[in-house]
Amino acid sequence: MILLKSSKEIDKIRASCRIVRETLDLLKTKIRTGISTKELNTIGEEFIYSKNAKPAFKGYMGYPAGVCTSINDEIVHGIASDRKLRETDIISLDVGVLLDGYFGDAARTFAVTNNVSQEAKRLMEVTQESLKLAVAAAKTGNRLYDISYAVQSCVEGAGYSVVRQFVGHGIGASLHEDPQIPNFGKPHTGIQLKPGMVLAIEPMVNVGGYEIEILDDGWTAITKDGSLSAHFEHTVYISEKRVEILT
Ligand code: MF3
Ligand code: CO
Repeated sequence: MILLKSSKEIDKIRASCRIVRETLDLLKTKIRTGISTKELNTIGEEFIYSKNAKPAFKGYMGYPAGVCTSINDEIVHGIASDRKLRETDIISLDVGVLLDGYFGDAARTFAVTNNVSQEAKRLMEVTQESLKLAVAAAKTGNRLYDISYAVQSCVEGAGYSVVRQFVGHGIGASLHEDPQIPNFGKPHTGIQLKPGMVLAIEPMVNVGGYEIEILDDGWTAITKDGSLSAHFEHTVYISEKRVEILT
């Protein structure tokens, strides 16, 4: 069941998403060679608490951190640790916020320095572009899998793979609501997109194959073939006239 949001609810989701965006903007300025993922996590959590909000992922199904920190072949749900960033690493940061009963969710992948590989740079560009196309497809009159197809066609056209075991989602008074939004699918199929829907669209893209493995920590998803992976996510609101990126 897809919950359509009232304008009052949208205002609350917007406020939550603003903190998500500000947290990612802040973390971006902190990324450098030698900083640990734990330090980044602490900076993110403290910023969120300073806004009288909560890091939404912390404690969610037992997840222990406030910010998901996933390096190189780690796709999503990496757990902050004493691991330090290296100059050739890329790192995906995924942030969720709960404020006044409503959630916001977004992710971005960053290069630690300009010395990352050309492949890493291209991967980040393609993944970001796939999100941009997916957001543009998320409009009233289109269908759900138009979003999925927008991601898949962009990513596979570039020679990369979309992760199949994780999906985007509706979001609102719960972090994960219907519908599930796969990053692959047939255009012109799926439910009709309607004004009032709020969606977290989140392509995860691998340089190699789409197969994944989960580490023994029970959370960290990595590429099975060890290839690099990137993740970009926005929470968006479908209004009558346009799609608004809230994060
Ligand atoms: N953006 C991811 C999602 O929507 C992050 C979830 S992390 C978790 O599933 F810890 F909350 F699972
Ligand atoms: Co999400």
